[in-house]
Parts: sequence; C-alpha cells; structure tokens
Amino acid sequence: MVAAFDEALHGQARVVSVTGEAGVGKSRLLEEWLAALEASGRLASVSVRRAVCSSLGEQPYAVFAAFFREAYGVASADSLEVARAKLASGLAALGGEGEETATIASLLGYVLGVEAADRFRHVEPEQLKRQIFLAMRRLIERRLQQGPLVLTVENLQWADAASAELLQSMLDRLVDQPLMLVVTARSGAVSAACTSRGRMLSSGYTSGMAW
Ligand SMILES: Nc1ncnc2c1ncn2[C@@H]1O[C@H](COP(=O)(O)OP(=O)(O)OP(=O)(O)O)[C@@H](O)[C@H]1O
Ligand SMILES: [Mg+2]
Repeated sequence: MVAAFDEALHGQARVVSVTGEAGVGKSRLLEEWLAALEASGRLASVSVRRAVCSSLGEQPYAVFAAFFREAYGVASADSLEVARAKLASGLAALGGEGEETATIASLLGYVLGVEAADRFRHVEPEQLKRQIFLAMRRLIERRLQQGPLVLTVENLQWADAASAELLQSMLDRLVDQPLMLVVTARSGAVSAACTSRGRMLSSGYTSGMAW
C-alpha cells in the first residue's frame, strides 16, 4: 500500500484490494494507513474520498454518490435545495462552464438523488448509463487536475453493480493519473455473477491496472 501510494502520486494509477474474512482487520488496516499518511503530512495535497457499502443493499451508483457527497459536503439531512446549491458551488469550484458542465450537474444530481428522475425519463437506459459514466469520469478528471486522489471503497462485495462497473471502466481510462483506489472485501463473498466485482477482487494487490 505504501509503495502503491508513492507510485500513484507519480501519476501511475494504482489499485489495492484488501481481502480477507470478516473481522480479520481490513477496515482497521485502511484506517491506520490513512491515519499514518495524515500524521506524516503526506495527505496535504491529496484528496481522499470514502465509500462504505452496506449489506442492506445499495442504490445504483451509491459508491460514486458517497464520493461526491463527501467532495461537496452534502449531508443526508440537507434539503434538496441545500444539496443542489452545494453541488452547484462544488462544480463551480472545479471549473468548467457551459453546456457540458450543466449536463454533468444534472447527471450528478440524478446520481445523488437530488434531481427529479423524470428529467431523464425519455433517455434510453443504455444512453443514460453512458452519460452517467462520462459525467462521473469527467468530474474525477477535473479533480485530478487539482492534485492526487485516493478513493476507498469498503465492503466491495456489497457494492451495487453499476458502481462496480463504473469503477472498472473509469480506472481503465485513468491509468496515467495520480489516482489510487483501495478496496476492502470479504474473501469468498463475491457472487460469480458479479463479473466486474469478481475481476476486481481476484487480483489482490495489482501494480498495474490490468485487474
Ligand atoms: N492489528 C490489529 N490490532 C488490534 N486490533 C485489530 C487489528 N486489526 C483489527 N483489529 C480490530 O479487530 C476488529 C475487527 O477489525 P475490522 O473491523 O478491521 O475487520 P474487517 O476485516 O474490516 O471485517 P469486516 O469484513 O466485517 O468488515 C476491530 O475492532 C479492529 O479494531
Ligand atoms: Mg470492515
């Protein structure tokens, strides 16, 4: 993890998966690693975004919704207006204007559940998925222009399929970016049907992006 962090800071995206049985210490390892980085000042220029998947089930794109809620300070108790205003100012701070940013804003609002879903009623599901993938990737790319990014996903075995697929697709395209993804997952808990997640978990620590 330590080596992967250094490599990621130098613009070679890295994925680390921490797998093991329940209670073996995956979350603790992640927590201690982040605390050690923080204590040594190495997170000063690094953004960290965290998502924790629950066994109770997740909405589509819940992992990304968690990342962006953290990024823009959107709390679950926020009213729709407050949440929308926070997203708008967060997006403005990332820069970019015009039609693309407006589209990204409404897709992000949709993923976070603060935008009326009927706005996308007329869009074909596959088309909507493509648009969401692109919008999420653009947002991550803009963030990466400001500095390195560490994404953590706890309990990946419970991630929704859309998030798992989007993580995979995004990382495939950001190989030369200062990006690190750390996932934790229980070994043996992944259904063979969940191809994306299965691929992610099968590799353990990967020094490249072919995971
Ligand atoms: N190296 C360690 N030294 C002391 N306590 C530890 C250590 N590793 C883990 N623990 C403790 O063991 C308990 C279980 O650890 P943790 O929650 O990290 O497990 P996990 O692998 O994430 O489990 P799960 O699959 O249920 O998420 C926690 O209370 C944690 O603080
Ligand atoms: Mg855990």
